[in-house]
Amino acid sequence: MFITFMAVLLLFFMLPLSISASGDAFIGVNIGSDISDMPGSTEIVSLLKAQSIQHVRLYDADRALLLALANTGIRVTVSVPNDQLLGIGQSNATAANWVTRNVIAHVPATNITAICVGSEVLTTLPNAAPIIVSAINFIHSALVAANLDQQIKISSPHSSSIILDSFPPSQAFFNRTWNPVMVPMLKFLQSTDLNFTNIPIMVTESGWPSKGDSSESDATVDNANTYNSNLIRHVLNNTGTPKHPGIAVSTYIYELYNEDLRSGPVSEKNWGLFYANGEPVYTLHLTGST
Ligand SMILES: *[C@@H]1O[C@H](CO)[C@@H](O)[C@H](O)[C@H]1NC(C)=O
Ligand SMILES: *[C@@H]1O[C@H](CO)[C@@H](O)[C@H](O)[C@H]1NC(C)=O
Ligand SMILES: *[C@@H]1O[C@H](CO)[C@@H](O)[C@H](O)[C@H]1NC(C)=O
Ligand SMILES: *[C@@H]1O[C@H](CO)[C@@H](O)[C@H](O)[C@H]1NC(C)=O
Ligand SMILES: *[C@@H]1O[C@H](CO)[C@@H](O)[C@H](O)[C@H]1NC(C)=O
Repeated sequence: MFITFMAVLLLFFMLPLSISASGDAFIGVNIGSDISDMPGSTEIVSLLKAQSIQHVRLYDADRALLLALANTGIRVTVSVPNDQLLGIGQSNATAANWVTRNVIAHVPATNITAICVGSEVLTTLPNAAPIIVSAINFIHSALVAANLDQQIKISSPHSSSIILDSFPPSQAFFNRTWNPVMVPMLKFLQSTDLNFTNIPIMVTESGWPSKGDSSESDATVDNANTYNSNLIRHVLNNTGTPKHPGIAVSTYIYELYNEDLRSGPVSEKNWGLFYANGEPVYTLHLTGST
């Protein structure tokens, strides 16, 4: 069961190397919106402030929320949704427009620090795999043209399922089926002066559900609280990984709110730290995140 829940963990390769081995890792939270009673942007930002949450990741680039996040100091990762990926990967102009509307329009008031280009493309939208590197490339060119490439990192989160033999982690390797995509992608990340062996990794989603159906007995409030509390302590202490102890692996907790509209087992709707009305599902203090 533990392994099943851990499988939601996503890896996020990113560039440039501005979070270095010596930098401090941070904790952020994902904000999903499959919620019937979705809180307004102002309410969301109030909750983030009240909880001292300083890093968030969005699954899109919602204009109202980006406006509400302006001048808060909160660092924001925006995402190119998978349904816009094909267009962007096939047209430099479409990519440039996306960056103009969703990034340039908001910085510097809103501190956008990273762009995720698609989500788990290899596993959820394999027909877009051939264009993912060009999508990253085009978005990167637009950032370069706007002189934002040093402050805004770019990458594409992958499901941990593309990594085989993932335990122990030092034995893990990429599923070779994806080499035609992964190799050019890693080469591209490296070409922007990164070191192939040294591409920073960020965990874009990690968490534990607080409630499940009768076959999901490990999805409890206690387990969720224990997992997320230990995760936060581990990340903020820069514990790193067994192969790279001490290296900063910043992590976004999955997720801020329970998403009642998500399909699947009961646990799918119960990964949140908070209910949509802002009440905590359990008491977890994220203070100390930077
Ligand atoms: C934006 O975030 C970056 C990265 O954390 C930080 O270095 C910078 O100072 C922030 N800018 C503002 C205006 O808060
Ligand atoms: C793509 O657009 C960027 C501006 O967004 C420009 O700097 C770059 O030269 C263009 N690349 C190609 C191949 O047209
Ligand atoms: C590697 O990925 C391919 C394509 O998704 C999949 O068919 C195959 O089963 C994977 N290999 C392993 C060993 O999981
Ligand atoms: C790449 O990184 C390794 C390990 O951090 C280092 O030993 C090596 O000198 C680096 N190579 C380049 C070209 O920067
Ligand atoms: C934090 O890391 C240090 C070493 O880097 C270790 O000695 C200490 O036990 C860790 N603390 C916790 C709470 O994990």
